[in-house]
Amino acid sequence: MVNESLKIQNVVIVGTGLMGSGIAQVAIESGVNVTVVGRTQEKCVATKTKISTGLARSAKKKFADSAETQSQYVEAALSNLEFATELTDVNFSESDLVIEAIVENLKVKQKLFSDIEQVVSEKCIFATNTSSFQLKDISSKLDRQDNFAGLHFFNPVPSMKLVELVRGDETSDEVYNALFSFCQRLGKTPVRCKDTPGFIVNRLLIPYLLDAMKMVERGDAEISDIDTATKLGTGYPMGPFELLDYIGLDTMKFIVDGWHQRYPEDDKFAPCAMMDRLVSEGKLGKKTGEGFLKYNSDPKRA
Ligand code: NAI
Repeated sequence: MVNESLKIQNVVIVGTGLMGSGIAQVAIESGVNVTVVGRTQEKCVATKTKISTGLARSAKKKFADSAETQSQYVEAALSNLEFATELTDVNFSESDLVIEAIVENLKVKQKLFSDIEQVVSEKCIFATNTSSFQLKDISSKLDRQDNFAGLHFFNPVPSMKLVELVRGDETSDEVYNALFSFCQRLGKTPVRCKDTPGFIVNRLLIPYLLDAMKMVERGDAEISDIDTATKLGTGYPMGPFELLDYIGLDTMKFIVDGWHQRYPEDDKFAPCAMMDRLVSEGKLGKKTGEGFLKYNSDPKRA
């Protein structure tokens, strides 16, 4: 049973990128009050536009027959949204939860959380959306580790139902339960997981993607055959190379290199020369027009 004092209504989201704006959108649509903290006024303005576009899309799906209801829906959601460019401008005495969704850099995240700890109230929960660090690395210098947990949303947030709710060694039951209810309120399906590298999805996915690349390196099979085989043989919607290009090879390399550094003995996380070469050539996947595949009107193998 969630303690009434931990009911989450006022949320601060730090980060105006892909994830920060997506989380903000679903939260304000669910009636949660959100303050997004961006680094500059320009970023805040651009994020408001991005969120408004997302809300309009969502409203169109929900109320296809009424343009008036759509615009009322968008206005109502936007009335729950505020912006700030400095942590010191946020009214933290009212905040129930701070979600960090900034750049995947350990030092930057550690610094942000120690700044946050100085300004939030006793009851405030803080959560990270990290996809590759362990919670214990981010929170090691924090005093209130019982208030800290991982909320790992998936991209694009408005349409992906999953949130991995990561429990640190010291996360309290009250905090964990409050976050569980919060995810459900946002229309998401939370899954429970421990503070292990990659949590559930990435821990299974990254070694699988690395294995697919190593199959090609060994000459066991070709890219197109592996993509076809996994789609038709397992029902996966994308083959591993299509997925690698969608994620971005730079992002993938960042995660793999980090894990390899931390677990050099573990073969599952051993780097892949073929991916490293593509990254060094700037072929990062879909976003650059080429990765393992080429992206034009008639995609061909790279
Ligand atoms: P993004 O690149 O779209 O946004 C990053 C945000 O961090 C921007 O608002 C940027 O202004 C801010 N930022 C950059 N350097 C900063 C600094 N030194 N100090 C403070 N803020 C800084 O990144 P995205 O994709 O939104 O990722 C954010 C977090 O979410 C990362 O931890 C990432 O691992 C995680 N994540 C990303 C997913 C994805 O598919 N993109 C999925 C799940 C989690």
